[in-house]
Parts: sequence; C-alpha cells; structure tokens
Amino acid sequence: MKPFILLFPLVGGTFAASLNAYYKPGNGQRVLNGPSDEIILNGQTFDASPAAMNGFSLDLAEKRLIQMEGKDPIWMTELEKIEAKANGIRFFDITDNPTLDGFASVQGTPTYPTPRAYEQVTSVIKTLTTDGPRKLLEKFTSYWTRYYRSETGAESQKWLLSQIEEITAEAAHPQLRGLISIDEFPHSWGQNTIIARINGSSLTDDRIVIIAAHLDSTNMWPFSPAPGADDDGSGTVTILESYRALLAAGFKPKRPVEFHWYSAEEGGLLGSQAVAKSYAARELKVYAMSQYDMTAWVKAGVREEIGVITDYVNPTLTEVNKQLIDAYLDVPYVETECGYACSDHASWAKAGYPSIFTIESAFKHANLANIHSARDRIDISEEFSFDHMLEFSKLAVAFAIELAGWDKL
Ligand SMILES: *[C@@H]1O[C@H](CO)[C@@H](O)[C@H](O)[C@H]1NC(C)=O
Repeated sequence: MKPFILLFPLVGGTFAASLNAYYKPGNGQRVLNGPSDEIILNGQTFDASPAAMNGFSLDLAEKRLIQMEGKDPIWMTELEKIEAKANGIRFFDITDNPTLDGFASVQGTPTYPTPRAYEQVTSVIKTLTTDGPRKLLEKFTSYWTRYYRSETGAESQKWLLSQIEEITAEAAHPQLRGLISIDEFPHSWGQNTIIARINGSSLTDDRIVIIAAHLDSTNMWPFSPAPGADDDGSGTVTILESYRALLAAGFKPKRPVEFHWYSAEEGGLLGSQAVAKSYAARELKVYAMSQYDMTAWVKAGVREEIGVITDYVNPTLTEVNKQLIDAYLDVPYVETECGYACSDHASWAKAGYPSIFTIESAFKHANLANIHSARDRIDISEEFSFDHMLEFSKLAVAFAIELAGWDKL
C-alpha cells in the first residue's frame, strides 16, 4: 500500500505540513488502516502494531492543547503531536498549564556578580571525572526507552533517583547532608521529575539557583527504542557529576541550589512547565536557571566549542555564563540559536524567570542525525565525547558556586 499525503485538518493551513502515513488521525487507539501495522514518519517506517505499544500508556487520540510560536494555541491529538515533532515543529503542550505566562512577575529583575570565586571553583573542577558519568550513562541508556508514558520510562526515572540518593549518601559531608532534600515532583503520567536541593545559609536571600537537564527520551515514534545517550542522558549525568563533586567538596551555598531532572521534555516541556508553575504559584524566587540538554557531541572536523544559546533566554544571565566559560573551561564558546520552546529553560522563561541554555556545539553541528532514534548511543561514534561532557560539568560547578555563593561549613 502506498502512503497517502495528508494535510493537518485541525491547523487549517496555519502550518500545512505534508505527511505520509498509513492512518487517519483521531480515530481511536488503533489508528492504522493499512495492512501492515506500520507507520511512516518523515520517510522512516516504524512498527505500529499493538504489540509494539505494550508497556505504554499513550492514547494517540487524546486531544492536547499545543502552543506553537506566534500562533494561538490549537487542539491536536497525541498522534498529530508526534507528527508535528517529526516534522521539526517545536511547541509547548499547555493542556495542563495554559496560564503559565508571566506568572512569576512578582520577583523583579536580578543582577549578577562577575566571576570571582576562582580558587573555590578551580578546586572543585579538579575533582570532576569522566568515569562516573560513563558508568551512569551505560546503564541509563540500556532501557528500551525513557519515554514519559512508558513503563521503562518510569523504571529509568526510579533508577536515576536511586543513584542520586546513593551519590548523596556517599559524597555529602555529614554536616551538609542535613541541608539536602531529594524529592520527586509527581506527574500524572507516571514518570516524575526529580529535584535535589541544598538549602542556602542566607537568612535574607532565598532566591534559588537551578541547574537542570531532562531525564526522559523519545524516538520519533515513541514506541520505538530511544537510548537517549546525548538527548538528554548526557545532560543528566553531566549535572549529576557536578552535584557529586560539589557535595564531596563540602559546598554549602548561601542561596539554595537545586538540581532538576525533568520528566516529559519530549512531550512538549510538560515536566518543567509543571515545576515552574508550582514555583510561581508558591511565589518562590528563582535567581538563575541553567539548562543542559545535549552536552556530548563534538562533530568530526569541527572545533570543540560550547554552544551558548542566545534566543529565548535571559541576555544578562547569558553574559554571565559566557564569562564563566572564559574563566573556567578549556574550550571556547560559540553563540548559537535553538528556536522557540527548544528545551526546559523555555518553561521558566515563559513563567517570567531568568533562564539560559547551553548546548554541545553550534546548533547546526549538534548530534541532530542521531537524536530521537535508536542510534542515539554512547558507542555510535568517537564524536560522542565524555571529555566534552566534563567541560559542561565544570560550567555547572562554576554556575553553582559563583551564583549561589559558598559559606563555611
Ligand atoms: C530547606 O529549607 C526549606 C525552606 O526554608 C525548609 O522547608 C526545609 O525543611 C529545608 N530542608 C532541609 C533538608 O533542611
């Protein structure tokens, strides 16, 4: 059977992505009307048999409210969301949080110091390793998928939680341990966001410094394998290594420091929107939020660089981040753009909090050929670099110390 071309019926020409698929959207969980239980997305054929959907709780016919750049939100099915993503369209799924915009305006505009904690930062940076991240990532990428609506997605999140707890128990100084909380931020879809917090010592400044990555992964067809080594296993273990090193060094921040591992980034920034909305509703102040999504790839023949995203970010905080890269990393930065709703920092920006994003390279040199596929593996190429990831761990350490301050234990 030949694929037929289908235009988005709901979008009414606002974006007329042409698709070829063996199904009609919106007619229930069994969406196929072809003979072969296959689906074609963006030229690739996937197994869409009922057996392939075992272990998932994703209703392809469920209607979701989708916010794309510069347009009024529209309703589409989960299946149409998958198609839109496969066609390179970025969006917030705002079904659960339609009113995030401007929520955090209570807090005013922070100012930031220039880098000055040189001795403290360099002393911690020296203790960062590639062994820990490699070991963690080998296991983390061994799940079939970390899709947020899958059983293995929930299992992989619980495993990550156990690792964070173990690392905390092993690395944290006893006096520091009492300041640390590790919590799950629950989500209705079963895979939770994880938040590790080190309380600050200041009695007057409780503005939070957030360092974040996303723990979920996806294939273009969510039921297919998604090891998610670079996207975003790399960011996940990059910031966990920073967390470990900071604890081991007895880092007692003046401001609270939180490490966030979001669920459901790949579903339209669902986890981070829920957390940002909760913080805004509780009138929590966020001093600075920095996202790490894809930190491993150094494209062959291209100079090793840190991609500093300059669109949809806080420009002042981005300048601080560049100064940190200059002061503490062994590779230079390159300015680059990622587009609307590109990763979880966008949820914090949407709520009115200062947030930034740093990525493995100039966007055009990133690992775009392998992510969202079964090829997003550690061993796919020498271009997957744990040494490059280490540079991002340095950046997260510097960000935590410079922006949160360091008090005596
Ligand atoms: C951290 O501070 C918060 C807010 O002051 C408090 O509710 C919480 O119990 C503290 N956590 C720990 C582990 O001390």
